[in-house]
Amino acid sequence: MNVQWYPGHMTKAKRQMQEDLKLIDLIIELVDARVPLSSRNPDIDELGKNKARLILLNKSDLADEKYNRQWAAYFRQKGFQVAEVNARSGAGLKAIQGAVNEACREKIERDRRRGIKNRPIRAMVVGIPNVGKSTFINSYAGRACAKTGNRPGVTKGKQWIRLNRTLELLDTPGILWPKFEDQQVGKNLAFIGSIKDEILNLEELALELLDMLRRFYPGVLAERYGISEEGTPLSMLEELAGNRGCVGKGQEIDYGRASGILMDEFRNGKLGRITLERPQEDSQETPERSEAADEDSQ
Ligand code: G4P
Repeated sequence: MNVQWYPGHMTKAKRQMQEDLKLIDLIIELVDARVPLSSRNPDIDELGKNKARLILLNKSDLADEKYNRQWAAYFRQKGFQVAEVNARSGAGLKAIQGAVNEACREKIERDRRRGIKNRPIRAMVVGIPNVGKSTFINSYAGRACAKTGNRPGVTKGKQWIRLNRTLELLDTPGILWPKFEDQQVGKNLAFIGSIKDEILNLEELALELLDMLRRFYPGVLAERYGISEEGTPLSMLEELAGNRGCVGKGQEIDYGRASGILMDEFRNGKLGRITLERPQEDSQETPERSEAADEDSQ
């Protein structure tokens, strides 16, 4: 898998995060709204216990609105504050301050009882690679962007971004490691483009995505590519290749190009807003299992 994630790097990232967590009150955790469970690592719950928590369903513009709402309710029910955001455009960022205050209500009240005034909440952004951490820090802090240097009581070398009178953000995000040992998680992260394509078989991935999309979003592939959703994933890819001109002079099919078109268009939202993981209480259901469970309960 991703060479970036050999165990040595994970251990180092974890140690760094443990150090940084000592400095903060609030963890702002970004997840990808299209695969909210696959794009988080629950180790953060253990690492961050005793901290206030806010989950941002990022890239919500690419995910299904109906499931954004369901995922927000799911995480709220687990005790997190939640906001749906688009870090790239800035949509949803206004709701964050209210959620931060709510998440840190205990600390704010404790400070007030002790007569401590104007002590800002310190926060840190965490998430797996590519979930949008840098984009979020830039868009959320970009305007405020008054960096504070080293101060007494603050670890040397740490940079804080003062967002307003009540909130300061550590300027380097914490990197969480994905749960690679779970195959479905690996696939989900590959679908959204979080794992590099060079280390994956693009055609296999495209076939899996075709199968998943026709079951989860029937009609979407037929409409976009003019293909039948009845056959095998391979026959669907071949039809897509034909309709998109991925056929050579000798009529040979360019599977690689057809797969690339599908993956790019899915990742860029051209197939519409799509969520590949569905919330189910206390489980990490794959779509297949979710569907079977739905049928059972009818
Ligand atoms: P990271 O720090 O967590 O590793 O992620 P980063 O901010 O680098 O974001 C990864 C990619 O996701 C970037 O795209 C970024 O623009 C995109 N992105 C972040 N937040 C959102 C969002 O809410 N919605 C959408 N649609 N995209 C988002 P890129 O293609 O790598 O770079 P670029 O084309 O933006 O330059």
